[in-house]
Amino acid sequence: MAIAARQPYNRVYVMLNAIKQFLGDMYFLSQARAIHELTRLDPDAKRGLLATYAATYDTFVETGTYLGLTAAFLAVAYKIVHTIELDPVLYENAQRRLRSFPNVHCYHGDSATVLQQILPSINGPAVFWLDAHYTGGITTRAAANTPVMGELMAILAHPIKTHLILIDDARWFVGRNGYPGLRWLHTYVRDHSPYDMVIHDDIIRIFRDDEWTRPQSFLTNDPEPVTRIPASAA
Ligand SMILES: C[S@@+](CC[C@H](N)C(=O)[O-])C[C@H]1O[C@@H](n2cnc3c(N)ncnc32)[C@H](O)[C@@H]1O
Repeated sequence: MAIAARQPYNRVYVMLNAIKQFLGDMYFLSQARAIHELTRLDPDAKRGLLATYAATYDTFVETGTYLGLTAAFLAVAYKIVHTIELDPVLYENAQRRLRSFPNVHCYHGDSATVLQQILPSINGPAVFWLDAHYTGGITTRAAANTPVMGELMAILAHPIKTHLILIDDARWFVGRNGYPGLRWLHTYVRDHSPYDMVIHDDIIRIFRDDEWTRPQSFLTNDPEPVTRIPASAA
């Protein structure tokens, strides 16, 4: 009886969620069309892009190790690679695979928490690749599908303000399933840090460039929006 009474509410809940999801997808598509942002990089191109930042930064921090392929690829480019995985089996396997790279440090746990333990040891501008999230299959999740806001808060609180923060899968930031909306995130970054934010190739880039006067929008068609870091970071 109690279950029967709840059924109409469940149906309303499911319907509201479906509408929210539909509106979220439309929201992202409308932006994407405007900025030609339906483009996405394949994994090799993405790793190639991440490697180019090793010319400026010594340290690469990845959240979401998964199979360890990105960490292995970037181990030859960066002086230090930190990578964090929540799933115990993925962590064990990646740690075994990455054993031959002495400059790669693997961590097990929720990246929002583990980042807070790693950050005090980071004493220069670093690249943060925030890629920890639940994607079904053998991947796992903590309390939420994505730890991204906890990760971001930890990095923004770090005394060094010239990091390059890259967040994969911008298309998922539509204000549902635990992901903030892009506009909300942009406002949050501007209100809580000296960083700015742009989106390119489905990657959210949060960066510091005091020399660069940009319009207020995070939408951009620039071929390579992050090319410089301020002289103060050198
Ligand atoms: C998209 S995969 C990462 C892919 C990897 N960065 C690469 O380039 O090959 C996401 C990974 O994040 C992990 N994950 C999910 N939630 C996490 C969390 N809170 N902390 C750390 N890892 C998490 C998943 O188990 C999964 O292995």
